[in-house]
Formats: sequence, C-alpha cells, structure tokens
Amino acid sequence: MLNSSRQLFGYTKDDLAVETLTLDNGILSCDIITFGAALRSLRVPDRSGIKRDVVLGYDTLEEYESHPGYLGAVVGRVANRIAGGRFTMNGQTYALAVNDPPNHLHGGNVGFSHKVWSVVEHTSTLVTLALTSPDGEECYPGTMRVRVTYALEGNTLSMRYQAITDRDTPCNLTGHAYFNLNGHDSGPVTDQCLRIYAENYTPSDATNIPTGEIAPVAGTPMDFRKATPIGARINEPFHQLIQANGYDHNYVIDGEMGTLRKAAQAYSPTSGISMDVETTLPGLHFYAANFLDEGLTGKKGAVYGPRYAFCLETQFFPDAVNQPAFPSVILKPDGVYDHTTVFSFCCVKG
Ligand code: BGC
Repeated sequence: MLNSSRQLFGYTKDDLAVETLTLDNGILSCDIITFGAALRSLRVPDRSGIKRDVVLGYDTLEEYESHPGYLGAVVGRVANRIAGGRFTMNGQTYALAVNDPPNHLHGGNVGFSHKVWSVVEHTSTLVTLALTSPDGEECYPGTMRVRVTYALEGNTLSMRYQAITDRDTPCNLTGHAYFNLNGHDSGPVTDQCLRIYAENYTPSDATNIPTGEIAPVAGTPMDFRKATPIGARINEPFHQLIQANGYDHNYVIDGEMGTLRKAAQAYSPTSGISMDVETTLPGLHFYAANFLDEGLTGKKGAVYGPRYAFCLETQFFPDAVNQPAFPSVILKPDGVYDHTTVFSFCCVKG
C-alpha cells in the first residue's frame, strides 16, 4: 500500500509549525521534517525482509533545535568549515560567525539546518522543500533561493539540491544523515564495511581545515578503496586520525565532478543491508560520528554515542572559499547550483 502523509511534528521556539512528510514506494519509506529539511527516518528492508530504520534522529523538535550534530539535516549556506570564519571575494572580506572555534561550521549560528523550509510539492514518492536565505543572513552576501528534492524510485533515495542567487556568494549544500545499517538503535558501526571511490583525500590541520594538499590514500589508514570495516584502523597512530579523533575527512571522489558517479558503498554483515552512494559533487566528507555525545537519547529512547553511525556528506571541499586550488563554491547570479546524490539499497544474502 502506498501512502502519502503530512503531519504536524511540532512548533519551534518561535512558534513556527514544523511538519513531517512521509514518502513510501512500497520498497523504501522515509520521513522528512520541514525543520532543516531533515531526513528523520529511512526504512530499508534487511536480508529477512524486515524494515530497519537506518538513520539517527530525535523524537522531538526541541531536540532538533537544541542539540548539536545536525542529525539528518540539509546543511548550508556553506557546509563544513571556513578557516577563521573569514573569506575574501571580489575584493571584500566577509567575517562570519565563528561557531566552531576557531572556524565557521555548517553555515553559522542559524544555518539552513535550523530553518523551517516550505513545502513546494509532496506526493507519495517525492517532496520538494524550499528556503529563501536573505541577503546578509549569517553575513553571507546575496539572496539565495534553495530547493531540495527527496525522491524514492525503486530501491533508491535521491536528493537533488538546487540554488540560485542575486549576488556572488559561496554555496555548498549537503545532507547530514547519520547512517547505521543495522538500524539507528543498534550501537557502534565499527564492524560495518565502507568503500570510498577515492584515490586522494585532503589532509587537514589540527582545527580540521584542509592544508591544501591533495594526498594519496595509498599506504595509509585513510585508504577505503577496498571495503574495510570502519573500526579496523580508526584508532591507529596516524597523525590525521589522532588530531581529528577518528575519520572526519574529505575525500576527492574519483572521476569528473558534475557527472553522477560512484562515491561510496557501505555494508553491514549483520543486517545484510548494502548502500551505494553516487553523486555529481566533487567531495565526500566521511565523518565517523566521533563527537556524538555519549548516552545521547534518540528516537524511541534509543541510545546513541560516538561511532554509533557514519555520515557520508557529499559536498564541495572544506574551506574551498579560501583555497583557490579547490573547485570553486562561488555561485553567481547567472549560474545555477544543481547537484544530486543518490543512495541505493540492496541486500546481500548471509
Ligand atoms: C563535521 C564534524 C562535526 C559534525 C557535527 C561534520 O560534518 O565534519 O567535525 O563534528 O559535522 O557538527
């Protein structure tokens, strides 16, 4: 039975109504909330045909508003970090919120992840949400109009990000789902296997800003070219892992940006659920949820903690606005930001 539902999720501190929009195509189903356009649940069949909810989330809007972590949210105007919260564009220097000292993170104090989006279209298998970010919001220039479309088709969930602006401005949008392929309430993901289609990554400094180097993964614990359990090397005495407290790194996805190509594949030997990630974006930020609070309460009383999930954030490279050698994140009035990431699920027999 297909169903399309739209329900009240709650009211923000400012008394704005937030809705839950459910998509269901008979194979996958998911709930998206209009706060942060966040993916709150994603139900996928395991190898026994039982549906498991493979993304972390909260039961209440108050938790989405107050807790750090960006669970499931769409992040912008600029996802990831900007060094020192400063950048210069067209001869003008912009000073942004330093909300992750000493840097700017995920769009600032109130980024797109913390806004109530409006519903443009909702069917049983598709939802388009929209947001207008005014000129000067979070000190970014230009009015930006953004749309995110979640769509179910067969065994895939796609996310399409579109944006336009009336002045030059940086734009880097990502989805911040925390995946656990055994189910959101299933403990650590260290035994789940990950493959990343990247020969190179961008090493970072002690504050998680790329040094500018594009380094080969070969011969390091950053190498996921062959499927490897997430926890197999995460505690190795490798400088990049020590200073970031685990994996919290941007990978340079092989192939040409702008074309939909393989970025990653994750697999749980326990549930049999396998997830392929394809994207048109240049980078994949792999974050092993190193900073999730120990004992955090999630949906239906589930207990979350560090490394109880993994994020595969497809995006432009961190701090690209200050690193001329990285693909540019500057969106211009005559341009369009239009990128897609596709998550495909299948089951591997035990
Ligand atoms: C960042 C992490 C950060 C997390 C939650 C990730 O995208 O890379 O360093 O802790 O988001 O804010």
